[in-house]
Amino acid sequence: MSTWANLGLQDSASPLMEQLIFFHDHALLILVMITILVGYLMFMLFFNSYINRFLLHGQLIEMIWTILPAIILLFIAMPSLRLLYLLDEINEPSITLKSIGHQWYWSYEYSDFNDIEFDSYMIPTNELSNDGFRLLDVDNRIVLPMNSQIRILVTAADVIHSWTVPALGVKVDGTPGRLNQTNFFINRPGLFYGQCSEICGANHSFMPIVIESVPVNYFIKWIASKVNF
Ligand code: CUA
Repeated sequence: MSTWANLGLQDSASPLMEQLIFFHDHALLILVMITILVGYLMFMLFFNSYINRFLLHGQLIEMIWTILPAIILLFIAMPSLRLLYLLDEINEPSITLKSIGHQWYWSYEYSDFNDIEFDSYMIPTNELSNDGFRLLDVDNRIVLPMNSQIRILVTAADVIHSWTVPALGVKVDGTPGRLNQTNFFINRPGLFYGQCSEICGANHSFMPIVIESVPVNYFIKWIASKVNF
């Protein structure tokens, strides 16, 4: 999760988020180069005194400053498309988690097992423990195995919500009457926090997401404690 003065992206917890960070840095580098070049040229305009009374056209320079930016844009477009298709790929998921947005909480279903479903409400500030995170912790966390492909299905029961966990690089809208799908792979244990990111009403800010990433054997123990045999 983000803490004080962390204005950039969070540390990644999945390979896809790692790729998203690489792409962000790549695009930012190109942006900085363009900004410096254009800034320098504009600044220098104040100090030159070139005058040419017969200047009417410049075919060559116009060719250059039309084609060159198009080539630079390709250097952003190609990696962007690669990532877009990579994000959409589903790689034989081990388990499926269904997440349903409500006003204003998330509910979850582990569709591979019988009867595992629960609501996940934010813990109100006055009930928060000393080590809890205000507006971010929930009463029932999602427990998921690390080092496994996980499919997530997202929908909503009332209005549009968005299931968003920055550290995993996941952001999927939950839309009533639709079922959206994505997948991720958590490559380290830990707690990963997210929030709804579709303006869904008065308590939009108060429906956080908490994922507890644990080794597979711990996950199996947790599942076993939940299943009604
Ligand atoms: Cu649900 Cu915003």
